[in-house]
Amino acid sequence: MQPSRVDAGRGRGARVEGATPQKVRSIGVGVLGLGLAGREAARVLSRSKLARLVAVCDLDESTVQSIAGTFGVLGYTDYADMCKGPEVEAIFVATPTHLRVPHIGLALRAGKHLLVEKPLAANSKDAHEVVRWSAACDRVVMSANTRGRDAVVQAMARVVQEEALGQILSLTNVMYKPWVLSPRYDYELDPELGGGVNFRQAPHQVEIARTIIDGPVKSVTATVGRVETPVDSFGNFNALLEFQSGATASLVFNGYGYFDTSELTWGIGEGGRRQAPGRGIALRQAESWTKVKYSSESPIQPPASGRSGRPGLSIFGLTIVSCERGDVRPSRNGVLVYDYDSIREIPVPPSSGGMSSDLEEFYGAVRRGEACRYDARWGAKTVDVCEAIWTSAQVGGSVRL
Ligand SMILES: NC(=O)c1ccc[n+]([C@@H]2O[C@H](COP(=O)([O-])OP(=O)(O)OC[C@H]3O[C@@H](n4cnc5c(N)ncnc54)[C@H](O)[C@@H]3O)[C@@H](O)[C@H]2O)c1
Repeated sequence: MQPSRVDAGRGRGARVEGATPQKVRSIGVGVLGLGLAGREAARVLSRSKLARLVAVCDLDESTVQSIAGTFGVLGYTDYADMCKGPEVEAIFVATPTHLRVPHIGLALRAGKHLLVEKPLAANSKDAHEVVRWSAACDRVVMSANTRGRDAVVQAMARVVQEEALGQILSLTNVMYKPWVLSPRYDYELDPELGGGVNFRQAPHQVEIARTIIDGPVKSVTATVGRVETPVDSFGNFNALLEFQSGATASLVFNGYGYFDTSELTWGIGEGGRRQAPGRGIALRQAESWTKVKYSSESPIQPPASGRSGRPGLSIFGLTIVSCERGDVRPSRNGVLVYDYDSIREIPVPPSSGGMSSDLEEFYGAVRRGEACRYDARWGAKTVDVCEAIWTSAQVGGSVRL
């Protein structure tokens, strides 16, 4: 297909509002892969003060035309060409998980920094290969955009450190949502390709737990469930993570979405969006389960690129953290702390957290050489846990990490 470079005008998405050039030297980012994840990344980058969207790339030319035109940035259908662009200092990788190794490798060879969608790779071996590459070159590789970065999760992590509640005993996260029974490409449900609930959804829960408990995971014991109809898939899991500190995390995921946990969290789900009760019904009624994800036959479409505003805090399932002297959970507006003689709410601004806090950390690492908590090593450890969930379910016992 030629030309691969679709020039849709530049600069509109690159404005650095309210920042003086001396204070902020925003990072030019190109987004690779324009499915759900890449479009959302493009939207966030186009509004950031610390980064600016300069290019987008997808194999589908009409998608590139449309998204590049919306944001006024360069569009490419050939990733190698996007990597040659001097305006692209960093790549946001949002292509299917099984393509991580070649896509990360190409960017690093071109001298680009990286923000990589979750999971960092399709398996532990690939994830640790990425860690070795990132250590061998002085580029920043950040494992981006899990629900562990949600404002309310970051706030719970601070509260358990600062509110004199004692050691963390346990964390529970329960999530029911219609992920499996929505139109999906085959590879999204294939665990060998980094798909299925334990690779595509568990990273969110694992990172919520790792962010709050803040220490190494010692062992994982899990079961992964499978149904054959209406779509043959591994669609639910129960996992028990034991941390070196002695704390445990119980993670329950059900991807069929007959019930949706947002019904228990004021109708608010991940991304801070209101979820209509029964939203899974329309998705389940789709006649074809795969390969129609964004076609005219599909009941779902990627978000409109210009979607504005977040209605509130992002809430991923039902989370409760239990400490020696109290419990903590998200509220509609922040964090609720239950201790011996009180229940109090600590407000959390909805504008904090999420991908904008990824970008703050990324900016500090790229421009000021600061340490990055959510780096490739962090992302690889999450993949280790996700793989251990799968392995534990196959062997029927605990996996030590
Ligand atoms: N953090 C989150 O909440 C979140 C949400 C959704 C997806 N994701 C992650 O993002 C990644 C992508 O997921 P998705 O649902 O957007 O996937 P998707 O399959 O819907 O979209 C991927 C896009 O990549 C494009 N693509 C594939 N190969 C390409 C290539 N060589 N060059 C250019 N473009 C190419 C495809 O054409 C497609 O448009 C996955 O790893 C997934 O785990 C994260």
